Amino acid sequence: MDLKEAQALLKAYNQEHLLEYYDLLDDDKKQELIAAIADIDFSVLENLSFDKERSVGKLAPADALALEEIDKRRGEYEKVGLEAVAKGKVAAVLLAGGQGTRLGIDAPKGTFNIGVNKPLSIFECQMRNLIAVAKRAGAYPHLFIMTSTINNAQTVEFFKQNAYFGYEPDKVHFYVQKTAPAISTDGKILLEETHKPVLTPNGNGGWYSSLKEAECGKILDKENIEWLNVYGVDNVLQRICDPVFVGATILSGLACSSKVVRKASPEEKVGVLCKEDGLPAIVEYYEMPEKQKTEVDGNGRLVYCFGVILNYLFGVEKLNGIYKNKLPYHLANKKVACIVGGKKVVPEQPNGYKLETLTVDLVKLAGSCLGFEVEREREFAPVKNATGVDSVETARALLAKNGVEL
Ligand code: UTP
Repeated sequence: MDLKEAQALLKAYNQEHLLEYYDLLDDDKKQELIAAIADIDFSVLENLSFDKERSVGKLAPADALALEEIDKRRGEYEKVGLEAVAKGKVAAVLLAGGQGTRLGIDAPKGTFNIGVNKPLSIFECQMRNLIAVAKRAGAYPHLFIMTSTINNAQTVEFFKQNAYFGYEPDKVHFYVQKTAPAISTDGKILLEETHKPVLTPNGNGGWYSSLKEAECGKILDKENIEWLNVYGVDNVLQRICDPVFVGATILSGLACSSKVVRKASPEEKVGVLCKEDGLPAIVEYYEMPEKQKTEVDGNGRLVYCFGVILNYLFGVEKLNGIYKNKLPYHLANKKVACIVGGKKVVPEQPNGYKLETLTVDLVKLAGSCLGFEVEREREFAPVKNATGVDSVETARALLAKNGVEL
């Protein structure tokens, strides 16, 4: 791409300001800027909705397998799940491409030390749970770890330094998710430097398309992997490739499944598994209409009660059919350091948006989903914030309750 072509492209998308400092740059930086512009997928700017609340369709509560029902068939589910893991039909996908801005650390979130008297990283907490399953099944599932351009090197290094936490190293594969430009509140792409647009990880929804395009994605076909257990890095009690969950999903015949917990209160900040216009959907806490958010049944229990914990099992065959569908971009209102009037500004309040695709949109595309209830105290200890709700302190308390030495 040359300057003229860049100008034409930017004009078409109303982004000509990206060349505002072009004449002041040296030749190398001029080239870098043109190359960066050529790399941006501007189509992500089409159809963005700046409305805070998306218009939610007709909602109905979703059913889920409740704890008591799971207990009744535990043995049967577990047998089927363990067999699938033992045969290598199940792999795990760790979503570790986020920036963890709320936690406020300048390193991959999984490297955060949640230990008190001895070092214990978030990654280690999760790897221990996966290793326990691998030992029972007598086979280590492939583990794909999605990182971002920002944290890939540090993440890979951390796993190496820690000898993969005892996991089989050749079963661990890293891949980098794609980026999207960050924009101002009026839709203009922000500049990180006068010759560099701000590019940030494009949300956790693109994990399968990024995996398919990565070199390690070939393993899926080569090894006939049928199920992918995708999970977030920010839950230190995350149970991965849980045989009971895997078995229940396989026996359900549905396209995917989601672990859920009963919401602690109407205000709890978790997405809720619902039916939207007849299809399974996860409605984010900030999208849930007030009426449904607070609706209770005759016993005073929340009707829309099943909160998701970012632990899903997807059938690979289904994913292959849907992953090329374009997922919508959501606008995450964040603080984005950027150039204003030729100078770098680090804002104290959110000043723009990061563009993110979400895994919850894949659930909708999958068309059917089994809700699978788990015990909150045993499986849900989110680490989102440094202090207060869903924080390091609350997660430590829950780890201790589960007998983890800190
Ligand atoms: P969050 O939505 O909590 O985002 O991620 P975050 O970036 O980690 O944290 P904040 O909002 O900046 O504080 C939920 C999960 O999705 C992953 C995260 O790593 C986490 O496991 N994620 C998020 C990605 O893998 N890529 C992304 O672009 C965003």
